[in-house]
Amino acid sequence: MNKKVINLLITEAQKARKMAYAPYSNYLVGAALVVPSGNIYTGCNVENASYGLTNCAERTAIFKAVSEGQRHIDAIAIVGAPLMDEPSDYAYPCGSCRQVMSEFLPESGNIEVIVAKSLDDYKIFKLSELLPNSFNL
Ligand code: THU
Repeated sequence: MNKKVINLLITEAQKARKMAYAPYSNYLVGAALVVPSGNIYTGCNVENASYGLTNCAERTAIFKAVSEGQRHIDAIAIVGAPLMDEPSDYAYPCGSCRQVMSEFLPESGNIEVIVAKSLDDYKIFKLSELLPNSFNL
């Protein structure tokens, strides 16, 4: 993937992280995804007093994109860290988010998943590495 797109996705994920609503875990996550047209959609985690209702940042971004007519994701970047910290670890997508990503594969058949601490410290995985043999009907 082109370095400009990687930078843009990480920057947008960092910005989205600032919108996280996470008063229970104080763990803030931002995600940004790009669709084949080049449009970018972002999301943050949204927690609830009934903890199990929490929506992860990745799924917020995916649901925003899908609700605006998108059906394919080329790449998604994720940035996560506790409230007052800059990311010191890579924030990997949870199993539920990996499964939801697998629903919206692009023509290439794989989504690039970028886990980032910063603009120059990140790793890129194929979704198939993170979720081999995913469930599909
Ligand atoms: N979280 C995400 O936003 N994405 C993930 O892939 C894993 C976890 C959020 C959910 C919750 O608000 C906080 O991180 C701590 O679990």
